[in-house]
Amino acid sequence: MREFIYFSQKARTSGNFTDLMKAGRMDIVCNVIIQSLFLSNKMRDDVHLHLIFNGAPNPPMHLEIVSSKIEKTQISKKNVAGLIKRMLYKCKEGKKNEVFPGCFIEKKSFRALLNELEDNGKDICILDGKGESIRELDSSKLSKCVFVLGDHEGLPKKEVKRYKDKISVGRPTYFASQTMIIIHNELDLRRL
Ligand SMILES: C[S@@+](CC[C@H](N)C(=O)[O-])C[C@H]1O[C@@H](n2cnc3c(N)ncnc32)[C@H](O)[C@@H]1O
Repeated sequence: MREFIYFSQKARTSGNFTDLMKAGRMDIVCNVIIQSLFLSNKMRDDVHLHLIFNGAPNPPMHLEIVSSKIEKTQISKKNVAGLIKRMLYKCKEGKKNEVFPGCFIEKKSFRALLNELEDNGKDICILDGKGESIRELDSSKLSKCVFVLGDHEGLPKKEVKRYKDKISVGRPTYFASQTMIIIHNELDLRRL
């Protein structure tokens, strides 16, 4: 299973938006979903994607997509924004709600999610241009990572400074969605 967390400080936490860019850069979220889940002719079936939204009006929100459980007709590259909206509308206080098969929403903070994954034995790996090159890392290490990426404003320093595993995918600063493609490609090449 390839596990990713995308954090956005301003992504809107209600489904009532029309302009993706004005909804805390929901356009970036759409790109992240597409690049993490889809190949040219099919959907990857080994992706576990977490999205943390911290924007107005009801933060924090944790959206979770488990690709192996998704009904392929439920999610289309053409209407990813529609999927996000429908999930946001269906958040229920105090409950993790499976809005569609494999698509969950609940109120949970970035820190709580990181703590939970750590408690479950996962390695939290922060994607950071100043980290260790992904090429130099052992496959055994990479296969245990939960890859954590930020939005256009990056990751909150306070929350990620306690993690020593920082991974770089190259010298340029890439979009989060591009970083995800590079990670997938590295894992594909290694057949992980
Ligand atoms: C557009 S970048 C964020 C740029 C932001 N101004 C910053 O300085 O963090 C989005 C995310 O992609 C990831 N990223 C971008 N370039 C990377 C690189 N060369 N290596 C590793 N991760 C990278 C980081 O997680 C970053 O938070």
